[in-house]
Amino acid sequence: MRLPGSPRSPRRSSSTLTSPSRSAALAGLTARLAEVGGLDAAALDALEIAVLGRKQGELTHLLKAVATLPLDERREAGAELNRLKLAFEAAVADRRNSLAVAARATSSVGVDLSMPGREAWTGTRHPVTIVIDEIVEIFRSLGFTVALGPEAETEELNFLALNFPPDHPAMDMHDTLYLDAGGRPTAPGERLLLRTHTSPVQIRVMREGPPPYRVVIPGTVYRNDPFDPSHAPAFAQIEGLAIDEGVSFADLKAVLTHFARRFLGANTPVRFRPSFFPFTEPSAEMDVGCRFCGGAGCPPCKGTGWMEILGCGMVHEQVLRNCGVDPERWTGYAFGMGPQRIAMQRFGVPDIRLLYGGDMRFLSQFGRVSG
Ligand code: DAH
Repeated sequence: MRLPGSPRSPRRSSSTLTSPSRSAALAGLTARLAEVGGLDAAALDALEIAVLGRKQGELTHLLKAVATLPLDERREAGAELNRLKLAFEAAVADRRNSLAVAARATSSVGVDLSMPGREAWTGTRHPVTIVIDEIVEIFRSLGFTVALGPEAETEELNFLALNFPPDHPAMDMHDTLYLDAGGRPTAPGERLLLRTHTSPVQIRVMREGPPPYRVVIPGTVYRNDPFDPSHAPAFAQIEGLAIDEGVSFADLKAVLTHFARRFLGANTPVRFRPSFFPFTEPSAEMDVGCRFCGGAGCPPCKGTGWMEILGCGMVHEQVLRNCGVDPERWTGYAFGMGPQRIAMQRFGVPDIRLLYGGDMRFLSQFGRVSG
């Protein structure tokens, strides 16, 4: 391609600007002006220097030479050259602009960069995970640490050390999922099962070292339960254990009430009802005012105005003794709750099975809640 400019723009002395040579120069420049719209970026730069450049520009030289013309020619020649200069400047700017637009639209590899981008896919936390994280965080701020235990547990830790009598119905084959020992004989209490609750981790924590203890224990537990709107054979629990000198039922009530109000709102009503668990004495269940009806009674709270959120109690002294902890010196409380149930109450989920399906239409709604 012919580079516009240089060879055809010899340095001209202004004194050589005769009328015929000026017309020839103007004709040449006008022809080049017409070509500007087809130049590429490099040719455009070269042309600009050759024609409009401060030192070598042909048009610049012609304009300077105007001053040397006889007075009667000056005005006309000056006007003509200025028009041409403005036309060049406009054409160069115009061409440069369209080259830039084209460059933005198509990169060198042929990708159209002007096309709107696709939004990056980001996951969200599962509603049950949101609830577990929040509960653990509240207890962490009260000085509890997190402890974990295995899902395949011994009968001894899951039941016997927790003061379940050996004939307790929870231990029946149709309530608990036992693991096949592969025909090997197992001593009493040594049978392996899928833990039915996170309470055996209390035993593991206490047998690991001396008191005091303040732990929360999140984990999955298994029961031989149907998969229906309010049951699942595998679900999450969060266990808590606090043992120290002088810990009383008043501490249990204070800590769990504080927890419920931080988790559900400062004005949440709470109540404790007497209950029974073999590993606590006394035992209680804690209810919170129903969030759906404000206490008036509705189907989710079965008309009572209350919803149960956890079981709790003072750790039974036999359990402490089973772990080598002296009940004359150390006392404390334990609690256990089900994050699925709590997530259902909190987010208004009517069927527990929604928490187990992978339906993105359901799960993606929790993105904003997780913050
Ligand atoms: N382990 C009990 C269950 O699965 C829940 C529970 C109740 C845990 C009372 C505790 C407690 O630590 O004190 O039903």
